Amino acid sequence: METALCIFMLFLAGVSANITGQHVTTGECVCVAGTNVNARTSASLSASVGAVLNTGDCFKIHGGILTHDGYTWYQLSHVSGTQNLWVAGTLLNKAAASSCSGGSSGSCTATAKSLACQLLQMHNSGKVHLWDRHPSGVHDNAYALNNIRDTCNGHQASRSHYTCSECRSPGAPGGHVCLSETLLRYLVDLGTHGYIHINEIAGACHSCHSYHYRGTAVDIDPGSRKHELISKCSSMGGWPNDEINHIHCQFNH
Ligand SMILES: *[C@@H]1O[C@H](CO)[C@@H](O)[C@H](O)[C@H]1NC(C)=O
Repeated sequence: METALCIFMLFLAGVSANITGQHVTTGECVCVAGTNVNARTSASLSASVGAVLNTGDCFKIHGGILTHDGYTWYQLSHVSGTQNLWVAGTLLNKAAASSCSGGSSGSCTATAKSLACQLLQMHNSGKVHLWDRHPSGVHDNAYALNNIRDTCNGHQASRSHYTCSECRSPGAPGGHVCLSETLLRYLVDLGTHGYIHINEIAGACHSCHSYHYRGTAVDIDPGSRKHELISKCSSMGGWPNDEINHIHCQFNH
């Protein structure tokens, strides 16, 4: 009776998950069920946390399956940028291939991919900087660097999933979004003409209806190029906003 009730309540809460012991194959898509799920650098509770995941974050099985510390751990592909991280099977569900980036409904345009790869190359050579943190201190796979890496790898960009004073409910939505080609072109163009520090793209928590969640907005450190950031945003059809410690630029699509 107790077990039946417990299972019933798990279903009610919508957190029922557990792929432990199920047959899974490399490349199969699994999704996280739960909030603040730790994805670790190796199959152990004491391994460092490479990313914090939430319901709706889906990844392909990379191949590794190991039992340790009372859990069966599954190695997932490209959880944080190119990092393959480990998640306990009790927090994973099998999902349709389309839930994983790279599936037909998950992939973005070839132009977006190519622009993101150009931007990543600029980052790797120090010409631009894609931030690998959020001002909130929350760790997830939605840093500007992760957004660009994932897009360059042909995946959608991750959105954060947490609340803030600008949006107490429901908070940043989580899940994934394709980044706008216009937005990427704006960033590549700026990077071609000098250094920029890109704070946030699809990540972090903003106002509830923020264009960041649509993949069409960016926050950039103004540095010494404030007027250029603003005028280029306008000239490309966007709306710039001087938000004091950063320039926000958003596009319609
Ligand atoms: C998950 O499934 C395995 C295999 O069936 C089982 O041994 C384990 O108790 C389950 N864990 C949870 C938390 O449901």
